[in-house]
Amino acid sequence: MGAEAVGEASKLTTWRRDLHGMAEVAHDEVKTAQYVERQLTAWGLSPRRPTPTAVVADIEGRQGPGPLVALRADMDGLPLTEDSGEPFSSTHPGVMHACGHDGHMAILLGTAERLLARDFAGTVRLLFQPAEERPPGGAIELIRAGELEGARAVLGLHLQAGWPVGWVGLKPGPLMAYSDRFRIRIHGRGGHGSEPQNTQDAVLIAAETVMSLQTIVSRRMAPTETVVVTCGTITAGQTFNIIAEAAEITGTVRTFARDIQAQVEEEIRRRASHIAAIYGAVAEFEYLAGYPAVINDAAVVEEWSKILADVATVEQPAAMPQGEDFAYYLQKVPGAFLWLGAAPDGDRHPHHSPHFRIHEAALPLGVTVMERGARHFLAHPPAVRH
Ligand code: NI
Repeated sequence: MGAEAVGEASKLTTWRRDLHGMAEVAHDEVKTAQYVERQLTAWGLSPRRPTPTAVVADIEGRQGPGPLVALRADMDGLPLTEDSGEPFSSTHPGVMHACGHDGHMAILLGTAERLLARDFAGTVRLLFQPAEERPPGGAIELIRAGELEGARAVLGLHLQAGWPVGWVGLKPGPLMAYSDRFRIRIHGRGGHGSEPQNTQDAVLIAAETVMSLQTIVSRRMAPTETVVVTCGTITAGQTFNIIAEAAEITGTVRTFARDIQAQVEEEIRRRASHIAAIYGAVAEFEYLAGYPAVINDAAVVEEWSKILADVATVEQPAAMPQGEDFAYYLQKVPGAFLWLGAAPDGDRHPHHSPHFRIHEAALPLGVTVMERGARHFLAHPPAVRH
């Protein structure tokens, strides 16, 4: 590593650790936004706040007008008490960067610094986006504020603690899932545990409903379709000898296509209402659509993969059933979201774990990934969608 690269790596580490220490939850990224804003301002940029904690700044190229390319980093931590053992752990009790968004911000700052030479035509827009972790999320707010108007391409990345440093995952088409929630409220009739004939047992109906929901994937979906139906909670009953009057089931659904999402919703609705009806009870059904699927543009993926081949091991990952609000940008503008390997030395823990750690050696590669992507799509913007 040359002196310049060492200097950059140490800056990336500093930014990442500072931001890690001040972890804040969705829509509460007050200190985080100030930190980012201060750095951008120090470089002579003019950051703006389209929403209270979002920070957006444009870097205008000196080689004339040209396309607008947007680069995004999410900013929020999670409501978790950190137990990573890192010396720079969160100083905010009960809040932790357990998904790597601190690293994403450091990478975008590093990318901005490399682009300060402005040796390009067009504009790079830096989107520091709040509230990725809490639907409806910050992406939709930035879009409503007009920050994606006129953008020809949008790029984003996510650190992956399960992938080694030096690996990049890029996949055309669906990468992450529609991630939705549902709630079923069963209204039966309670009564004495010894007199079932006078009741409509909400516990029994809930149990039968949960079992039946598990046949949606196995019996109603093609074996080639990737779908998850999970019942996360059942709440019912007061004590052992009373038949419960009401029960509530909550769960999540993950799908990768709009029609499949609609079909699963309908399958759950039908099962819930019909199973309750068998026992003379009623089921109320609520379906809350979360983030849409992340669908990468095939041409962007192909070109971005090509220009990273000499700096990273570029692999095509399987689609993951997690949600990500970067999906909204991709509905508006061609672009792609990629995985950046960041497996730490020692024990690996999943994202959203209180023990979560990343390898900071991933950060400089993240900067190269974003810088190259920005320069390439400024020079060769994807075709405009109509
Ligand atoms: Ni995340």
